[in-house]
Amino acid sequence: MQACSLFTYNTEKMEMETNILLVEDNPRDAAQLKSILEEINFPEKSLLMASSLRGAITHEVSKKKITLILLDLSLPDCDGINTVKSIRNFFPDNTIIVITTAQDENIAMSALREGAQDYLIKGTCCAVAMRRIIRFALERQLTLKKLNEASESSLKADQKIVQMNEQLRNLSAYLQNIRENERTTIAREIHDELGQQLTGLKMDISWLKKRLQNDMPASEKVKEILSLIDGTIKSVRRISTELRPGILDDMGLIAAIDWQNVEFGKRVGINCRFENRVEELPFHKNIATGIFRIFQETLTNIARHAEANEIVTTFYRENQNLVLTVNDDGKGFDEYEVSEKRTLGLIGMRERAFMMGGKLYINSVKNKGTTSILVVPLMTEHRAKVMSL
Ligand SMILES: Nc1ncnc2c1ncn2[C@@H]1O[C@H](COP(=O)(O)OP(=O)(O)O)[C@@H](O)[C@H]1O
Ligand SMILES: [Mg+2]
Repeated sequence: MQACSLFTYNTEKMEMETNILLVEDNPRDAAQLKSILEEINFPEKSLLMASSLRGAITHEVSKKKITLILLDLSLPDCDGINTVKSIRNFFPDNTIIVITTAQDENIAMSALREGAQDYLIKGTCCAVAMRRIIRFALERQLTLKKLNEASESSLKADQKIVQMNEQLRNLSAYLQNIRENERTTIAREIHDELGQQLTGLKMDISWLKKRLQNDMPASEKVKEILSLIDGTIKSVRRISTELRPGILDDMGLIAAIDWQNVEFGKRVGINCRFENRVEELPFHKNIATGIFRIFQETLTNIARHAEANEIVTTFYRENQNLVLTVNDDGKGFDEYEVSEKRTLGLIGMRERAFMMGGKLYINSVKNKGTTSILVVPLMTEHRAKVMSL
């Protein structure tokens, strides 16, 4: 049957459900359109008629499945573009073809913007044009539906990604804190237990040394053992401090930054200055640790990559933020080139700043140097969350 090619449209199910609602108050125009539909073999039983907006809505209420609406814009109870808006409201998913006069073509264009799929001009429409308009309008509506579905599912996927990112961040913060707690415990155990035992051993050997004063070879050997023990004690202190400097827990963040600055300068042979303009505050342990670890990582990067002669570190308070800037006069780097390297140091530092509700800015100029600026809010919801992890 010829009608099938037009009204089956994709699925057979749709053919059975294809009902056209013709909304037209002028009986002559309505009859003319009806006969054009007959000409293209549209089944009469599937044609519903209404002569007003109210009448059209009644069809919606009756829940008879309507696929397409042929809509005259001048109705007794609604006129112009408002007719499209009202019908769209009641029939959000249907295909709408506006019926208009040649003089009203501009309104027809506005109707398309309000969600109609096409328009036909009264008196000029023939069977061939009607077939094409219906087919194109149905196709457009179907495409739009698919697009909406696709954008809905991509929105859902986006939301899922945001949610997973949040979970990963929480997990990362949780692991970071566990790691830090473990480092603190191991550092203390190494320092206290091993340190005490080594000191005890040193005292015993010193006692032996006195006893063996007259035995030159034995005395020499004991001296060697003592110097070995001294070296081991130093190693134990270094390892425990590298794991977690006790000064951070005992004396606070500012003392720890100051100490690290001096130690680093001595070890690497770079002139390091620290200007502090913040009074020592009872920073939460996780915040103090976060700022300190970012500072350490910044210094490590300078030692590894910058070839700098001088480092200036400044710690100050600006409004409700703590700001730590570290500036080196080294060779600098190009952000784009570095992002290609896919290294994790800078990413880790940025993540750590984010976990504290803060942000890490890096400003580097080739052959001039690098400045990293860490901004951490004194109190935020985010920070409270990190604290509770
Ligand atoms: N202060 C700096 N001066 C010069 N280059 C730097 C500095 N900090 C970082 N970079 C550059 O940024 C890159 C990425 O750093 P990072 O992510 O910490 O990785 P890594 O230190 O493992 O190379 C480094 O490889 C280096 O090229
Ligand atoms: Mg690094």
